[in-house]
Amino acid sequence: MQQIFTKAMARNIFLGGAAFFLIIYVVLTVDTWRQIPQRDHAERLTASVRHGKYLVDSNNCVGCHTINGEGAYYAPELGNVYVRRGPDFVKAWIKTQPTGIAGRRQMPHFDFSDADFDDLNAYFEWLSHVDTNHWPPNVQG
Ligand code: HEC
Repeated sequence: MQQIFTKAMARNIFLGGAAFFLIIYVVLTVDTWRQIPQRDHAERLTASVRHGKYLVDSNNCVGCHTINGEGAYYAPELGNVYVRRGPDFVKAWIKTQPTGIAGRRQMPHFDFSDADFDDLNAYFEWLSHVDTNHWPPNVQG
């Protein structure tokens, strides 16, 4: 039987293909890392923003909410809450939970100080400046 595909050819296609896609992978990875400093605005990460993030993490807000699409899909996205709702709403909302409205999903009460609310809002404001390439798409409140 005539052999059209030699072992050497198969090996070269495999190695050539693996090398080709490895190079694309490395180039895209370097490109992503190159863009991060302009996109995440690390220069805006003040102590207040960091503490706001700590409050969100330590109280497991993403157990119900998403932040930039990551987390649970029980409650609204918080990555854009600063733009959608604004800092006064966020503070008033959290202070008045749970609403106890029948048939509506409930959020627990969190006992934050005024300084904590300022830090939470600083974190949400920082998030609003992160360029996520419009991710997640079509989020609503
Ligand atoms: C047990 C689930 C749960 C946890 C944990 C939780 N939330 Fe919520 N949250 C909800 C639900 C449900 C709603 C929407 C309720 C409604 O629309 O009546 C909500 C709404 C909100 C809203 C209003 C969003 C909007 O777009 O109207 C904000 C702000 C918010 N949560 C902040 C937080 C923060 C900050 C934390 C952590 C400190 C947190 N939530 C933890 C369930 C939760």
